[in-house]
Amino acid sequence: MKFFLDSAILSEIEQAYTAGICDGITMNPSLVKKAVDGLKAKGEKIDLERYIRRALKVAKGTPVSLEVTDTESAEAMVVQGKKLFKKFNPVAGNVYIKIPVNPSYDAAPGKDFEGIIAIRALRKAKIPVNCTLVFTPEQALAAAKAGANFVSPFAGRIDDMLRKEHFVPFSKEDYYPAKGLSKEGKVLEDNGVVSGIDLVGQIVKVFRQYGIKTEVLAASLRNARQVREAALVGADIATMPFSVFMELMRHRLTAEGMKKFAEDTPEEFRKLV
Ligand code: E4P
Repeated sequence: MKFFLDSAILSEIEQAYTAGICDGITMNPSLVKKAVDGLKAKGEKIDLERYIRRALKVAKGTPVSLEVTDTESAEAMVVQGKKLFKKFNPVAGNVYIKIPVNPSYDAAPGKDFEGIIAIRALRKAKIPVNCTLVFTPEQALAAAKAGANFVSPFAGRIDDMLRKEHFVPFSKEDYYPAKGLSKEGKVLEDNGVVSGIDLVGQIVKVFRQYGIKTEVLAASLRNARQVREAALVGADIATMPFSVFMELMRHRLTAEGMKKFAEDTPEEFRKLV
């Protein structure tokens, strides 16, 4: 399973690539805002185009997803997606355009297929696509049929929603059991999906069943155990914040063992090398 960094913060991108365990980057408008706000807070002058170009260079050879923001129609997403691709892909040849599976959010009729239409059009123009905001296997299938290279089920947000709807107190990083959470004798579920990892697993199963080549990118992961479970259900990619990248490497016994080895090392051994 590939590890992607879910961040637009350049210092995090640089650290993850220097460590050599980062296979790609995912950005979204909220993550770009976080990076921009961070620069503003430091009083730094913002040249976002230059900043993104630097990130693309660091990530050369691995995919970087940039999300469209003009989402009022398929045409608008295609126009913006093409512009983003034209502007940024020449930097390192690694741009993927992120398209929401369904950009309709105000219940206005007739917009439910705009994401799918945009994905098909961008793929026709040979632009790689990451289909985002996926919450059902059906949405994932529709995106795959339209030719998306990646589909991004948002695991953590399903878990958050189930806890919120059922008044289960939680912090964002809290583990949510892949097999679901029971309350008053019933497993909480969203139309047959019992957890974010269950959603990822269901999509993987459907894709494998039909030999679909679209990669399943487990997104919105909140802790290392969820990354492990994404791997166990066969996700092709897991994208995670930098904090989770660090958490992947940690165990209290590793730290304890290191402390003891450091204390025990005899001076005579140190002098050998
Ligand atoms: C990745 O592509 C998504 O934008 C991201 O994982 C969303 O994560 P969040 O639910 O923690 O905001």
